[in-house]
Amino acid sequence: ATEAEEKDLVIIGGGVAGYVAAIKAAQEGLKVTCIEKRGVLGGTCLNVGCIPSKALLNNSYLYHQILHDTKHRGIEVGDVKLNLEQMMKAKDTSVAGLTKGVEFLFKKNGVEYVKGTGTFTNEHEIKVNLIDGGEQTVRGKNIIIATGSEATPFPGLEIDEKRVITSTGALALEKVPESMIVIGGGIIGLEMGSVWSRLGTKVTVVEFLGQIGGPGMDAEISKSAQKILKKQGMDFKVNTKVMGGDASGDKIKINIEAAKGGKEETLNAEVVLVAIGRRPYTAGLGLENIGLDTDDKGRLVIDSEYRTKIPHIRVIGDCTFGPMLAHKAEEEGVAAVEFIKKGYGHVNYGAIPSVMYTHPEVAWVGQNEQEVKASGVKYNIGTFPFSANSRAKTNMDTDGMVKMIADAETDRILGIHIIGAGAGEMIAEGTLAIEYGASSEDIGRTSHAHPTLSEAFKEAAMATYGKAIHF
Ligand code: FAD
Ligand code: NAI
Repeated sequence: ATEAEEKDLVIIGGGVAGYVAAIKAAQEGLKVTCIEKRGVLGGTCLNVGCIPSKALLNNSYLYHQILHDTKHRGIEVGDVKLNLEQMMKAKDTSVAGLTKGVEFLFKKNGVEYVKGTGTFTNEHEIKVNLIDGGEQTVRGKNIIIATGSEATPFPGLEIDEKRVITSTGALALEKVPESMIVIGGGIIGLEMGSVWSRLGTKVTVVEFLGQIGGPGMDAEISKSAQKILKKQGMDFKVNTKVMGGDASGDKIKINIEAAKGGKEETLNAEVVLVAIGRRPYTAGLGLENIGLDTDDKGRLVIDSEYRTKIPHIRVIGDCTFGPMLAHKAEEEGVAAVEFIKKGYGHVNYGAIPSVMYTHPEVAWVGQNEQEVKASGVKYNIGTFPFSANSRAKTNMDTDGMVKMIADAETDRILGIHIIGAGAGEMIAEGTLAIEYGASSEDIGRTSHAHPTLSEAFKEAAMATYGKAIHF
C-alpha cells in the first residue's frame, strides 16, 4: 500500500452530496480527495435515480401522448411502435453524459478521484480497496461521509431485479410486463408505476396509508393525483397493507390486508416493484473502527454543523437526517464545506421543494394543509385551477391546480402545493418566495408573463388575500 499525504478534506461517496462537496471544497482552495466505489461518479441520483427515471418518464410520456393525445390536436400518426431497447439506450446516453460531466468537473477543479471502497482504519485514515485491484491509504484532516442510501427490502421477497425489483430493476426491464404490483404508493412507486403503465403494463399500487404520494403531500392534492392517475389506467389499493409474498410460482403472489386489519386477499402479477422507502447505507465503512454508531433508522447522528461526535468527521446526504432528495444533499455538500472552511454555513430545511415527476407533476414546498391545521395557526387558502388558465387551455392540458396557504394574520406564505404540467419548474418560484419570507400579496402583485402556466401561480396568490381575476 502507498502512503498518501494528508489532504484537507477526504469525502467518502461520490454521489450528489459527495461530488458537490468535493467541487465546492476545491473551489475554496482545499486539497480534496473523493472516494467512490461504483466506478462512476454521481451516485444513486445520476446512475439509478433522478436522471434515468426522468429519461424514462419523459419518453414514456411522449409515447403515451402520441398514442392517446394527438388526434384531437389535428395530428394524425400512423403506426406507433415502442422500441424499448432504444428507449433504454436513450436513458443510458443521458446518464453517461452527465456522469462523465462530473468527472470532467473534478479534473477542472483539481479534485483527486480515487475509485474504490473506503473503510475507516482510524479517525483520520481510510483504507481504499481499489476497483482495479490493490489498496491505497488516504489521510484527511477533515472527512465527510456521503455514502447515501439503498432500497429497503421487503421481508420474505427476495430481490432479483428481474421479477421482484426495486427502482433499479424498474429502470432496466428488458420487456414490458403484462402486470405489475407496486408495494408502496410513494414517489418511486408512482413515478416508476407511471412509466410502465404508459408502456402498457397493468399496474396496481398497494399503499398502507390512506393517501398516495407519501405523508408530505397535501391531502387534497394527493386525492386529485390519485384520481388523475387512475384515469390514466393505474389501479390503487390504499389503506392496504402488504403482508407477504411468494415468488416461487409462475406469477408472483402478494398477500394484502386492510391496514386496520381484516380479510386477506391475494393479488398476482408478473413483476413486483418494492418501493417502501430507502434506508441509509453505511455498510463496509468500518464505523466500528472509529466508534461511530447509527440510530435506530440506520442514520449517522450529527449536530447542526453536520459533525459526528468526532468533530472533524461530518455526514451529509441520504445517510443522515432529512428528506432523501438530491437537491437537499447538494445544499448540505456546500454548507458542510463552508463550515470546514469558514466556520459557518446554512441550509433552510423549511424551503426544500419536493417534486413528483408524473404527469401531471406534483410539487410542493413548505407545510401542507394538514400540518398547518395541526400547528393551530390561522390560515387562508387560495386556489386556482389550470382549467381556468389560458396557456393550459391552449396546451389542452388542464388537469390540476395551484394551492397556496398563508398565515391569516401576516399573509406570510406557509406552503405552496401544485398539481399540473410544469409544476416542478413552477415550484422554484414558491421556494424563493418562502426563502424570502414573501406574503401572498407580494406574489399576487408581481407581473407574470402572459400566456404562461405561472399565471395560475399568481392568481392562486391573489385568491389567498383577495380574489382571482379569471376564476
Ligand atoms: P448517493 O447518491 O446514494 O451516493 C452515495 C455514493 O456513495 C454511491 O455512489 C455509493 O456507491 C458510494 N459509496 C457508498 N459507500 C461507499 C464506500 N464505503 N466507499 C466509497 N464509496 C461509497 N431525488 C431528487 O431530488 N429528485 C429526483 O427526481 C429523484 N429521483 C429518484 C429516483 C429514484 C429511482 C431513486 C432511487 C432516488 C431518487 N432521488 C431523487 C433521490 C436521490 O437519488 C438521492 O437523494 C441522492 O442520490 C442522495 O445523494 P447522496 O450523495 O447522499 O447519496
Ligand atoms: P416513500 O417513503 O416515498 O414511500 C414509500 C411508501 O410505501 C409510503 O407511502 C408507505 O406508506 C408505503 N409502505 C410501506 N410499507 C408498506 C407495506 N407493507 N404495504 C403497503 N405500503 C407500504 O419511499 P419510496 O417511494 O421508496 O422513495 C424513497 C425515497 O427516494 C423517497 O424518500 C424520496 O425522497 C426519494 N425519491 C425522490 C424522487 C423525487 O424527488 N422525484 C423520486 C424517487 C425517489
